Amino acid sequence: MADFSLPETFSPLTSEQIIAKEKSMMDARRFEHCIGVSRTAVKLAKLNHYDVNKAALTGFIHDYAKQIPVPIYQQTIREQGFDPDLLNYNRAIWHGIVGSWFIKHDLKITDPEIITAVKRHTTGDVTMTTLDKIVFVADFIEPGRDFPGVEEARKVAYADLDAGVGYELAHTLAFLIAQRAKIYPKTLLAYNQWAVKN
Ligand SMILES: [Fe+2]
Ligand SMILES: [Fe+2]
Repeated sequence: MADFSLPETFSPLTSEQIIAKEKSMMDARRFEHCIGVSRTAVKLAKLNHYDVNKAALTGFIHDYAKQIPVPIYQQTIREQGFDPDLLNYNRAIWHGIVGSWFIKHDLKITDPEIITAVKRHTTGDVTMTTLDKIVFVADFIEPGRDFPGVEEARKVAYADLDAGVGYELAHTLAFLIAQRAKIYPKTLLAYNQWAVKN
């Protein structure tokens, strides 16, 4: 980890402070994942002519709130003006949508593009900015990921970012449906937007 730093933090906090804070929020495995997402986001940013520093930071902090305890999430949803319907979901959905609140509050990040990308990284959305897509896809294909189809996902995403978003949504929905898991409505809408082949 000694070789990991952030060139720009988009926050009054320094790179060292952001990294230390993030490390204190999660286990070592999740921390490694966040570094993998950051590095993959940089690669995707270069390929898509996007700000590499913003991609590096957003990739790194995307799962900042992933391991926050359930009661704290529930309290934050109730007290910070989130849609109460979110209480019917779980951490898998919360850590993006509600996680964005912790990014603002704890890491002092105000850049709306960064906040939106963190918000959308778990569900996808009908409208997605380049940064949204970079983080969404980097999360799925970072080097630590190992699932049937990951090589294909990498190939598709590095060739065409939008196609990478579509591949990921189709793969994720198929997985959720096979588990008979509840699907967040926005993810279905995102699937229709990005994954359907005409
Ligand atoms: Fe996540
Ligand atoms: Fe992640």
